[in-house]
Amino acid sequence: MASSAVVKLVVCLAIMAMVMGAPVAEALSCGQVSSSVAPCVNYLKTGGVVPAACCNGIRSLNGAAKTTADRQTACNCLKSASSSIKGINLSLAAGLPGKCGVSIPYKISPSTNCQRYILHV
Ligand SMILES: *[C@@H]1O[C@H](CO)[C@@H](O)[C@H](O)[C@H]1NC(C)=O
Repeated sequence: MASSAVVKLVVCLAIMAMVMGAPVAEALSCGQVSSSVAPCVNYLKTGGVVPAACCNGIRSLNGAAKTTADRQTACNCLKSASSSIKGINLSLAAGLPGKCGVSIPYKISPSTNCQRYILHV
C-alpha cells in the first residue's frame, strides 16, 4: 500500500510537471501570442520607444514558433490581434519585429495571407 501511494505521488508530480511545462513544448496558442505582444500594444498605437518587454515578447514568440503549424498559428493570431485592437498603427506594427532585431517574413497586418508565410519566422 505504501509503495502504491508513492507511485501515485510520483505520477501526480509528473503530470503536474507536464502541465506546467506544456506551454514551452506544446503547440503555440493564440493566448500565448497575445500575451507575448500585450506589452507592445501601447507602442503600436502611439509609437515612441519600443518597450523592452515588448521585444522580449516578440523574441520569445519567434523562438516558440518552431514548426510550420506554430508559425501559421502565430501569423494568424498576430493578424487577428492587429485587426481587433483598435487604433493600431499598421506601419508601426509592420516595423516592430525589425525594431526588436527579429525578422519575420510577413507583415503584422489584417491583410496578411498567413498561408503564404510558412517557411520561417
Ligand atoms: C503611424 O506611425 C508613423 C510613424 O510614426 C506615422 O508617420 C504615421 O502617420 C502613423 N499613422 C497613423 C495612421 O497614425
